[in-house]
Amino acid sequence: MRDLVGRTAELDLLRTEVGGAAQRVGVFLHGPPGIGKTALLRCAQELAHDTGMTTLECAGAASEAHVPYAGLHQLLQPLLGDVPDGDHRFTLLRRSVGALDAAADAPDPVAVALATLGLLRAAAATRPLLLAVDDVHWLDPSTVRVLAFVARRIRGDPVLLVCTSRVPPESALTDVLFRTVALEPLDGPGALSLVRAHAPDLPPALRDRLLREAEGNPLALVELARAWRRIPGGTVVTDPLPLTDRLETVFADRVAALPAVGQDLLLLASLTQRTRGASGTGTVTELITAARHLGHAAAAAADLEPAEAADLLDVRVPGVHFRHPLIRSAVARTAGESRRRGGHAALARSATDPDRAVWHRACAATEPDEEVAAALERCADRVRRRGAVRESVEMLERSAALTPDPATRGGRLVTAADHAADLGHEEAVDRLLAEAHELPLTEVDRARAEWRRYRPPEVIGDYTRMRELVTALARLHAAGRQDTALDALAPAAEIAYWRGIEPRCRDLFCGAVEGLVAAPDPRVLTALALSAPVSQARRVRAGIAALGVHTVDDAETLALVGRAAAVVGDAEAATALLLRSVEGLRQQGRLGMLTTANATLAWTCWHLGRWEEAATAARDARQSGLERGRARVAAEVMSSALDAVRADPGAALDRCTRVDGALSATPSATLREMSAFARTTALLVLGRDQEAWDVIQERFTSTDTRPLAESVTSIQHGTLPVYVDAAARVGAVADARAVVARFAGGGADSPLLTASLVYSRAVLAAPEAAESLHRAAVDALAGWPFLRARVRLSLGRLLRRERRVTESRPHLRAARDSFDTLGALAWAAAARRELRAAGEADGHDASTGAPLLTAQEQLIAALAAQGLTNREIGARLYLSPRTVGSHLYHLFPKLGVTSRAQLGQVMPSVDRRPLP
Ligand SMILES: Nc1ncnc2c1ncn2[C@@H]1O[C@H](COP(=O)(O)OP(=O)(O)OP(=O)(O)O)[C@@H](O)[C@H]1O
Ligand SMILES: [Mg+2]
Repeated sequence: MRDLVGRTAELDLLRTEVGGAAQRVGVFLHGPPGIGKTALLRCAQELAHDTGMTTLECAGAASEAHVPYAGLHQLLQPLLGDVPDGDHRFTLLRRSVGALDAAADAPDPVAVALATLGLLRAAAATRPLLLAVDDVHWLDPSTVRVLAFVARRIRGDPVLLVCTSRVPPESALTDVLFRTVALEPLDGPGALSLVRAHAPDLPPALRDRLLREAEGNPLALVELARAWRRIPGGTVVTDPLPLTDRLETVFADRVAALPAVGQDLLLLASLTQRTRGASGTGTVTELITAARHLGHAAAAAADLEPAEAADLLDVRVPGVHFRHPLIRSAVARTAGESRRRGGHAALARSATDPDRAVWHRACAATEPDEEVAAALERCADRVRRRGAVRESVEMLERSAALTPDPATRGGRLVTAADHAADLGHEEAVDRLLAEAHELPLTEVDRARAEWRRYRPPEVIGDYTRMRELVTALARLHAAGRQDTALDALAPAAEIAYWRGIEPRCRDLFCGAVEGLVAAPDPRVLTALALSAPVSQARRVRAGIAALGVHTVDDAETLALVGRAAAVVGDAEAATALLLRSVEGLRQQGRLGMLTTANATLAWTCWHLGRWEEAATAARDARQSGLERGRARVAAEVMSSALDAVRADPGAALDRCTRVDGALSATPSATLREMSAFARTTALLVLGRDQEAWDVIQERFTSTDTRPLAESVTSIQHGTLPVYVDAAARVGAVADARAVVARFAGGGADSPLLTASLVYSRAVLAAPEAAESLHRAAVDALAGWPFLRARVRLSLGRLLRRERRVTESRPHLRAARDSFDTLGALAWAAAARRELRAAGEADGHDASTGAPLLTAQEQLIAALAAQGLTNREIGARLYLSPRTVGSHLYHLFPKLGVTSRAQLGQVMPSVDRRPLP
């Protein structure tokens, strides 16, 4: 172990994490330059090494922050060589993080992330893994996204992630459950011992001064001690520079002492990055070649040795690594502008990868150059198709800066703004548009820029701005950019859908949209459906029918039309379309659309009783979605609803609470409605009827005088049955009838609403009409198995209470079987209870006398009886496998069984959950 001063708590933490068998959470160390992050990371590596773990490592670097997957490439390098050739996933991975020139066909970022996860898991199966990631603040965003993706999924695997950064976890990483440690300065005695170790004979006056100025920063302590040790006694040290600059100066002095060729090699290394090809030798070769272009005809690898000897390079691993990032910046900074350009020019000639070569050419250019600018624009396009949007914006901006023709430059800036908008980087959009605004833009680019300036979130409630937006839309249309106009519709309407749009704005928007094209167009239909899912429902459904979608096989069109069908309540058509779209979207790496399509599928499949598919879709959306994206949150809500009915209502409630927390940051009336639905469902399963009613009745009888957004109403078309159930439980039948009458009078053309109304009327019926309405509902609800089974349970109960037990049984049996098929645990149990009350033994009735199990025990027992392992049960219920084991241990005696195998015989009848 290295000799670190202090840091006992941090080292203990690392030791625990490294030693922990499973359930490691990962560590994120952050703090200012030189505070000792890398030093601790190296300790983690040593600890890991001692316990037989394999370490994979990578480090972010400022110069590579724009190269997609540069970090991942470094990290996975040791594994990629052993990947079996036939495995498609890994070939893809090798291609995407490997040679950049293979970027022509775009790998899907999710596929890359999944392949990474697979590769790491496969490696960890032989030996536990440590992923040591240094300087996350400089890591390319694509790599950060993959790491975040992996980190959220490896908790049960023998993989430990330790990261360092100068800033606390941000962007993609904020959702990862790290142990985050902010490194503090060393305390007085620690600092003193460090100085003593490095400069034992420093005069006390100088030493005290050093201790004061270094402020407990280890790098400062070590490096200043080394530098000041050589100062003749009695010299007065003046201090004009802040610490970091001072340290850079210390390093720069050391660089200046090197031979010229060594200095140039360091400069080249500071401008490029390492690890191309096995063991990093590719980089050294590239550097040497570049050095020859700089006039060092005899440059050779040996010329790096003096820099190693001066402690500037780290030779611990093969390749060229700076011993400290400040050395890199010191080298680049002190070289000056023109030497840096020269270095880039040399690297452009020596780079073997075309995209890298273009990047270096662009950095070397001293004046505008259309050829370079155009090459960079093409490169940006390739990079963007690989999912690295942020990097592509940076490249486009640079391309614009190098473009001689002002109009072309403006066009490139507008394109950059478009991409920045995709990322949600509003500040960047503003800046780019402002710059473009000063230029003589073409008619088309001006219209594009104008359209871009109107932010849908700002206009959905502002009539004046909506008018401006509509004008921009028309102008775009008139400028011959009909497609740009049409492409922009769905994203704008999505925002209207989630946030709710003010009615006058909605009408204006819909009017403008309808005017854009004569023939039905999927983009128009989606825009109409999303902004006015109730009033436009009839028109949208007619449009979908007219499109003839069965002949369409383009994933994007399928997704758009499927989404339109879903929001106007045609769950069946929507499901068919969306199921056909998701695979294509995945292959194209259309993540945003994929997430939305899956979240929508979760909703439609729920209503159609296709719960397995709903669960899969919700999970996929949660995996592919942006952390705070609305579609992803919607998927989260649907997972809660599914959990509530199939697994653990308590956990579902917790999840709803987390969702509501997220919603306070990104308000969405529509999501709030969905969340209330999931929460009510869970509360009803738990038998907390009054709470359920309190949550849901407020949604349906809001005293808010503003007209409800149509998207909210369209969600209620699907959640009405839950409202009605809650009303029936608390005896608020009259209220509910009034609400149902209101919906019936709304005139919406929605199959979902029709189904909900049929169900609601049966449940709320007066005694004399109840039986016939129930029977009619059973017939009408053939396509809606969950609603239908509930009606049959209710009908069976009704008949039984009238002592018509023989008539009741077929309905109760059918209900039980449907609930079993769906996996609706509590309802299945309720149907069984009714059946028993109707005099029908269940066949598994031996344990009626079994002592009561808690709700959680029941679930665990039910899942174990289905053959799930403790780990699988834990994953379903958010418990550790050990907790699951301990529950089982306690509940076996209560059930009078001694083994898991016997559970199957007693479980169907032990469910004592409250009646749904
Ligand atoms: N606790 C410590 N005891 C002794 N030396 C230390 C300690 N912490 C750091 N050092 C030394 O201080 C120097 C700077 O530390 P390190 O490189 O880990 O900083 P860092 O936080 O990674 O900085 P940066 O953000 O610039 O990467 C190194 O030479 C390191 O060995
Ligand atoms: Mg460091």
